Amino acid sequence: MVHVIVVLFILVTQVSAYRPCPKCGKIKVPYPLRTDENCGDPRYRIYCNNGALEFMSASGFYYKILSINPKANKLIIKPPLILENTCYSSDLDQGGLMLDENLPFNISTRNTVMLFNCSDNILLSPLNCSSSSFCREFEEVGEGCGCKGTLCCHFLKDSSMTSHRIRARLGGCTAYTCVVDKKPDEPLESWNFGIELQWLPPF
Ligand SMILES: *[C@@H]1O[C@H](CO)[C@@H](O)[C@H](O)[C@H]1NC(C)=O
Ligand SMILES: *[C@@H]1O[C@H](CO)[C@@H](O)[C@H](O)[C@H]1NC(C)=O
Ligand SMILES: *[C@@H]1O[C@H](CO)[C@@H](O)[C@H](O)[C@H]1NC(C)=O
Repeated sequence: MVHVIVVLFILVTQVSAYRPCPKCGKIKVPYPLRTDENCGDPRYRIYCNNGALEFMSASGFYYKILSINPKANKLIIKPPLILENTCYSSDLDQGGLMLDENLPFNISTRNTVMLFNCSDNILLSPLNCSSSSFCREFEEVGEGCGCKGTLCCHFLKDSSMTSHRIRARLGGCTAYTCVVDKKPDEPLESWNFGIELQWLPPF
């Protein structure tokens, strides 16, 4: 009898431990992502705010989650807006995107980052700041207009760099955007704007 109860107890706790969270708006929330206390895994906290799924950075800035690919352990967040008539990303005060290094999320290597309004010393870095950089195309349209004529650069966020931040700051680069899986000759209309994050699966 005691054995049966113990076995049942283990089954019940395991089932609840692997419980996926309910949908948020129209987006499914796959395990291990957690939107509330009774589902998912505590290390994979995301937020369902008024039907919108959001990811919170280490500095407390919320980024809208655009899509989730549970098979690949990946999700895509919306890059911060560039404030109108400026070249400031809305997360500039937070230093850009910063992920908590103690959490199982990092920035994937499929992101092409574009930085705007950079100071001259960026030219010493191995980024592509030439007049043929992709960032020049972004400056021509809506949101990027405030950055027109500023020093801008692009780079592929590869594994040689920190995978926990995209930095924005006064005196550095004050705005950025990002495109997932950018193809060389793709026109701007088909760029997949987003920042892809991946997570380490739970044990
Ligand atoms: C910078 O990027 C553009 C667009 O991909 C490319 O045509 C150019 O050769 C690159 N320049 C350097 C210096 O890497
Ligand atoms: C560019 O950045 C500098 C500080 O680094 C700031 O003073 C300036 O207002 C920014 N330009 C635009 C267009 O936002
Ligand atoms: C990011 O995390 C994935 C697993 O989630 C890992 O395979 C990859 O090496 C990490 N990337 C870096 C640059 O640390």
